[in-house]
Amino acid sequence: MKRIYLGTNLKMYKTNRETVTYLKELTEKTAALRCPGLELFVIPSFTALPEAVEAAEGKIKIGAQNMCWEDAGEYTGEISPRMLKTIGIDLIEIGHSERRHKFGETNFDVNRKVLAALRHGFTPLLCIGETEADKTYGVTTECLREQLKIGLYGVTGEQARRVWVAYEPVWAIGVGGKPATPEYANRSQQVIKDTLAELFPDNGGEIPVLYGGSVNSRNATGLIEQPAIDGLFIGRAAWEAESFAAIIKQVLDAGKRNY
Ligand code: 13P
Repeated sequence: MKRIYLGTNLKMYKTNRETVTYLKELTEKTAALRCPGLELFVIPSFTALPEAVEAAEGKIKIGAQNMCWEDAGEYTGEISPRMLKTIGIDLIEIGHSERRHKFGETNFDVNRKVLAALRHGFTPLLCIGETEADKTYGVTTECLREQLKIGLYGVTGEQARRVWVAYEPVWAIGVGGKPATPEYANRSQQVIKDTLAELFPDNGGEIPVLYGGSVNSRNATGLIEQPAIDGLFIGRAAWEAESFAAIIKQVLDAGKRNY
């Protein structure tokens, strides 16, 4: 059975109480939609994680937005894999565009986090994407390949089975961003899939590659219908449970695959 991946990154928007309310509502509104092939996930702020896990009741996967690569040490303000482990989550978002571009995370930092996540048995959701300048100068392919090759450096074929990748063009994310056309997104996603197959000849082709960047109810179907898009990673359009549930329904109804 094919799987479909639909999730949201709540960024720095919801308090603990808001996160719990949102998750309860989302659990309720998606009760009739959930099916074995659907990987539904929500990534709240660190502070809300324990309550989020409880509110999701195992029906929605909960992830963290970031993680330090060290288990412990003099890293004020950082959160270690050991701490996240005790919360009972298994998904860690790594290298989101905002981490890279607002907090200066490099591909090498991202790689250390990916390796740490795998070492601790988490699923790393590695986020990559080209900037507007990369696109203008025609180096999107080079950028994506570099982010993958460095970000996944040292990952074994066995570990690769647990990796998820999200393609989020930086110019498409957030307020002021505009979604990539389905054709543009599909081309980049295919570059990513080809690179993963090259890096992990045995199973790279099975790594799910999600698209993110201004996904909404108007473009979700067109995007998910693309052959190289295995799921959608949504920001703003998913922060009301009702609208996220509507997108989920729409995507499942598009029926590209037998979920
Ligand atoms: P938007 O959907 O708001 O553009 O955000 C996407 C995103 O950053 C998901 O990680």
